Amino acid sequence: MMKHNFDELIDRKGTECKKWDTYADDVIPMWIADTDFKCPQPVVDAMVKRAQHGIFGYPVNVVNFEESIVNWQKKRFGWNIETDWVEYTPAVIPAIVYAMRAFTEPGDNVVIQMPAYHPFHDIIPNNGRHILGNNLILNADGSYSVDFENLEQLLSKKRTSMFLLCSPHNPVGKCFTREELTRISELCLKHNVFVVSDEIHSDIVYKGHQHIPFGSLSQAAADNCVVCVNPSKTFNIAGVRTGAAVIPNRRNHDLFYKPLEDLKAYGRTIFGTLPIEVAYNECEYYADQLLEYLTGNLEYLNKFIAERVPQIKVTPMQATYLVWLNCKALNMAPKELNKFFLEKAKVAMNEGSTFGPGGAGFMRMNIACPRSRLVEGLHRIEAAVKQL
Ligand SMILES: Cc1ncc(COP(=O)(O)O)c(C=O)c1O
Repeated sequence: MMKHNFDELIDRKGTECKKWDTYADDVIPMWIADTDFKCPQPVVDAMVKRAQHGIFGYPVNVVNFEESIVNWQKKRFGWNIETDWVEYTPAVIPAIVYAMRAFTEPGDNVVIQMPAYHPFHDIIPNNGRHILGNNLILNADGSYSVDFENLEQLLSKKRTSMFLLCSPHNPVGKCFTREELTRISELCLKHNVFVVSDEIHSDIVYKGHQHIPFGSLSQAAADNCVVCVNPSKTFNIAGVRTGAAVIPNRRNHDLFYKPLEDLKAYGRTIFGTLPIEVAYNECEYYADQLLEYLTGNLEYLNKFIAERVPQIKVTPMQATYLVWLNCKALNMAPKELNKFFLEKAKVAMNEGSTFGPGGAGFMRMNIACPRSRLVEGLHRIEAAVKQL
């Protein structure tokens, strides 16, 4: 089996890289959700080979792309889907917007669970819909639970027509259990609310937890959802701007797809679909090794913070490589906290209040980097906190 070297330090500066080209040279960027790992060698080789062909004319929509998604869902999550349930989308966020336009009306309410991935805060009002936030409950041990009582209240409002689920959840790193998902599905069905499930982080789920695709819960759940997927987080290919929506119900599929057809907004790109096909078909080894490496990073971080920076509490992470750090004991307002880490520790993270209610006092740290860089970032944080 091929072995990937996740310890390799690769210079990303000057590659029009958002993560690295946003901050000064002396800052370690541990913010936006891509990894600092090279993508799998079979993906690189396939892209090079295709580039060397030298002709980049119109692609024909063969089903290789759809089949790779069908295969991955089956082998990783046991969800049996069909190729004609799968639609190409230019990444996940546009897919969510398409779904919102297809399944809700302007003026409707869309429920999200707070704190929430920051673009969710934009796409809903930007498209003339209202956000209804269901705050996740922060438990004494730092884990989070769903507030089902409040959720039902929000779902039962007359103009609530969509629930945007982030499963696993960014930024709190929660992997929802089958019981939780089933209850969510039942409540949405009861109140006639459509579910869009953003499952972009589904490959990064730590031991003891299991990702369950929303559409696999039951026939009724499948008939009431769009599931958005993208291997971009796992294989570090977010820059190819391609993802997919899985829509099990034919009528829903047609509702979703018609506006794209009208806009002729479905044109796929050869360098978008190819890396996904190769990653999903040939690179399961990489996903397994990545998870093992991230588990090591997480264990290192947990031990380091507990022993050397006990003012910070690490959320018990069930999923994602975005670690949710409770920094409330540092007693700083959100802006001050961000400035502190950026200017004193020289580590760039995402400041918690940008994720909405429940986020203030937290920082989100991306640990998908070579261990040596994580160690350096943690030492910088330790030194800065000791100066306080
Ligand atoms: C929950 C979630 N959804 C969507 C995205 C963005 O996906 P895409 O680049 O496919 O639009 C991210 C990226 O961090 C994310 O964390």
